[in-house]
Amino acid sequence: MASQIDHLLNESRRFPPSEEFAANAVASPQIYAQAAAGSAEFWADQARELLHWHTPFTRTLDWSNPPFAKWFDDGELNVAYNCLDRHVLAGNGDRIAIHWEGEPGDSRSISYAELTAEVKKAANLLTSLGVRTGDRVAIYLPMIPEAVIAMLAVARLGAVHSVVFGGFSAESLRARIDDANAKLVITADGGWRKGKVSPLKPAVDAALESPGHNVRNVLVVRRGENTVDWVEGRDLWWHEEIAAVDADHVAKAFPAENPLFILYTSGTTGKPKGILHTSGGYLTQVAFTHKNVFDLRPESDVYWCTADVGWITGHSYVAYGPLANGATQVLYEGTPDSPHPGRWWEIIEKYGVSIFYTAPTAIRSFMKLGRQIPQGFDLTSLRVLGSVGEPINPEAWIWYHDVIGGGSAPIVDTWWQTETGAIMISALPGVTSLKPGSAQVPIPGIRIDVVDDDGQHVGTGNGGLLVVSEPWPSMLRGIWGDPDRYRETYWQKFGDKYFAGDGARLDDDGDIWLLGRVDDVMNVSGHRLSTAEIESSLVSHPYVAEAAVVGASDETTGQAVVAFVIVKASQADVASAAEASDLLRAHVAQQIGAIARPRQIFIVAELPKTRSGKIMRRLLRDVAEGREVGDTTTLADTSVMQIITDRLQ
Ligand code: WTA
Repeated sequence: MASQIDHLLNESRRFPPSEEFAANAVASPQIYAQAAAGSAEFWADQARELLHWHTPFTRTLDWSNPPFAKWFDDGELNVAYNCLDRHVLAGNGDRIAIHWEGEPGDSRSISYAELTAEVKKAANLLTSLGVRTGDRVAIYLPMIPEAVIAMLAVARLGAVHSVVFGGFSAESLRARIDDANAKLVITADGGWRKGKVSPLKPAVDAALESPGHNVRNVLVVRRGENTVDWVEGRDLWWHEEIAAVDADHVAKAFPAENPLFILYTSGTTGKPKGILHTSGGYLTQVAFTHKNVFDLRPESDVYWCTADVGWITGHSYVAYGPLANGATQVLYEGTPDSPHPGRWWEIIEKYGVSIFYTAPTAIRSFMKLGRQIPQGFDLTSLRVLGSVGEPINPEAWIWYHDVIGGGSAPIVDTWWQTETGAIMISALPGVTSLKPGSAQVPIPGIRIDVVDDDGQHVGTGNGGLLVVSEPWPSMLRGIWGDPDRYRETYWQKFGDKYFAGDGARLDDDGDIWLLGRVDDVMNVSGHRLSTAEIESSLVSHPYVAEAAVVGASDETTGQAVVAFVIVKASQADVASAAEASDLLRAHVAQQIGAIARPRQIFIVAELPKTRSGKIMRRLLRDVAEGREVGDTTTLADTSVMQIITDRLQ
């Protein structure tokens, strides 16, 4: 960490906005002054301006029962109506909402009028399957238009979706179905990934095999055309059912605090947290940030966010933000390098993408492949670039700026979380002078601070913990079914401030530099993974006596999962270390999903522990990163690290 901070501090390049960009920018410097005059009122103005309210609100923020916030709670709206019908009614029905590109090269462009019609039918279909306001629907789909259609159809009914990333295993899917008590699962036969069809339906079948759930139907979109097993009476083809329903559907208004979705994310303990978001405040902040942070002009821009809808970025900046703003966007099904390493750049050229939002890990993989690949395509349509998910190192920032952005497109480095719902820290293009590597400033209407362990502001030039000091519209409303965990995780530490779990530093100008998680959450390719969750998966295997997992820094993925495992004495001879390690890597992939598969597993005889029995991950991280092992004096047995390193040599 120390070397990373020194390195960042040496970064002194600045990129002020061009005069032309500044003169035409959506955001203006005055917006900060407006917000500073009163953040709740500022958000009320945004909510009125950016959204359609069936019943206007008269109350803005109710913080009488912290940490449970209510925003605009006597107002009523329909989230799907805001993303669809009102654009059609405003005369923009012919505008393309989604340019969908399948991995093998098939494509489909869907106008706002068509998307609205599809969602109306899907809402009628879900109603016919018994979905009512407040019911939970699990969505386990590839990146196809039906993913967005399904989310909006659920939202249109005032029901609650729980999108589960298609890379999660049957077991992870089942845990999420159970936690939310979902009654319907929407999936596909399979989707295209890396040049072939990757089946999805078998995971749903496996997830639902054992009894104890309340899923009545599985709605299956046909995409991969792979053969699937069928449970009569339970499974239904989407295309057959949707052909039979009524095309008319009137969107009803729901209270602003009606739950919109649950999205599971990793925490410091083994069990994923169901982060709950509601309607009016969430949609206000995603629409506001999508418009101002990306300098959006819906009538002319083509926007592309590469995130999967299984993550929060896909919820806020694929589904809700762009559609609430009436934007035209690209949705791409596959992987960046299929069928060739220039696939993304080819898509940018094909659709004339002007705003592009992706993760540093992707930028770093492209850097490794060399600039000649993107240089083979016409990327001159790009005018704003975004980054999300992890700190972007200045080298990757400069490469992104020069090679992808043609040396002129501003880069917005956006900090936020599943819990915050929408962007919280970011430059505004045309307003902020950019600093590579720093997320810079809170967006207007958001109060962020960097504090010490006692909650005191650290002052410029110092590091500490990132907090949000005031409630914000798109904040999580809790953890599904577990209010105590919500309080403990985010509010117990500082009482009146939201503890984000990230370390940060304020530079001499007061700009914010993110320094990574301060808890046991890892960030692998911009995906959050919990050390505890992977450890508990490892110890569930009969070979394993004990396991410790660390996030080791990795040139491309930011961090990588590295595990240290003690094999049970009774099993010690069963497999060689290499075999055991392969077997356990596969076990984790099967239990949690391929994204959690450890990069390496070291079979060790001991784990370094303090006298109170706490595993000293810092020392294991030294080993995993190939460094000299640090101070071992607090270990109960100081020879342990010697034993571990000897064995690994
Ligand atoms: C990290 C993703 C530095 C951070 C939207 C946070 C970042 C976690 C940035 C949330 C950024 C996200 N710079 N770090 N621009 N954006 N992070 O919930 O550690 O998947 O706490 O939300 O990602 O990850 P999540």
